[in-house]
Amino acid sequence: MRWIVVGAGGMLGGDLVERVRSTGDEVRGLDRAALDVTDPDAARAALADADVVVNAAAWTAVDDAETHEAAAFAVNAAGAANLARAASAAGAAFVHVSTDYVFDGDASEPYPEDAPVAPRSAYGRTKAAGEWAVRAEHPGALVLRTAWLYGARGACFPRTIARVAAERGGLDVVDDQVGQPTWTRDVADLAVRLVTAGAVAGTYHATSSGAASWYEFARRVVAAAGLDPQVVRPTTSEAFVRPAPRPAWSVLGHDALRRAGVEPIGAWDQRWAVAADEVLAGR
Ligand SMILES: NC(=O)c1ccc[n+]([C@@H]2O[C@H](COP(=O)([O-])OP(=O)(O)OC[C@H]3O[C@@H](n4cnc5c(N)ncnc54)[C@H](OP(=O)(O)O)[C@@H]3O)[C@@H](O)[C@H]2O)c1
Repeated sequence: MRWIVVGAGGMLGGDLVERVRSTGDEVRGLDRAALDVTDPDAARAALADADVVVNAAAWTAVDDAETHEAAAFAVNAAGAANLARAASAAGAAFVHVSTDYVFDGDASEPYPEDAPVAPRSAYGRTKAAGEWAVRAEHPGALVLRTAWLYGARGACFPRTIARVAAERGGLDVVDDQVGQPTWTRDVADLAVRLVTAGAVAGTYHATSSGAASWYEFARRVVAAAGLDPQVVRPTTSEAFVRPAPRPAWSVLGHDALRRAGVEPIGAWDQRWAVAADEVLAGR
């Protein structure tokens, strides 16, 4: 099979290329310079010979999207549609990566895959529009929602926390936002397992199992970095306001994976224990 990973220069995209390569399948990674997803003709040309296309490209600057929503929409919605249409024309399978930010964050139980979307931020609106567009353009598409990603290839929460804890010796981290810290390598692995299993079209949640607050996660990060977890102090979202609202509850359910016979990603703390050295070292 010939795979094409779009957004291959990103934190998740790089791990996707590596994971597909490990299967022995042919894989081509396209970064933004090789394919700008906002160009529909370039998308059609680039994906013409693909068997599977994975879209990991996105406008991911959540706060900037509040003041640049049209530009974020061009990538996250119109760009995703361009890729889905081109993959459909090529007869290729299509995997699209989406986010927990499509939900309102007000729940207290894990969001099922078919829970109504109600984004609270510009980024979330553009990603929700992308999901709709992808389903319309490619009825066979697999939409993979992930959240709280960390990886060795990019700036991410654990690497920032470890650096700040070492530099400053103490830091405040919000304890009232709960989610599922998720390793990019686990999402890449899940994407490959879903495609290989021939999963039916639909929405799947690609997050770790269990749940934690950013504060709890930060303490694990600091411990893994060889520092005293006591340097992390709990704070609230009210004391740490940012331009885009953050969901208070970002816990996603995994029933669709189980129905497809595909094992969800393991518990967040166990996966972090496996990932920590590689992620903190970076690449
Ligand atoms: N990070 C998270 O915590 C998180 C959480 C939930 C969901 N997600 C989703 O996971 C996916 C991967 O995110 P990530 O964390 O790997 O983000 P990332 O590191 O920012 O990677 C996104 C990539 O998309 C590229 N890109 C931006 N605009 C493009 C365009 N017009 N054409 C082609 N490529 C373009 C970026 O290139 P440049 O670097 O050149 O701009 C970047 O390499 C995205 O769909 C994101 O919405 C991420």
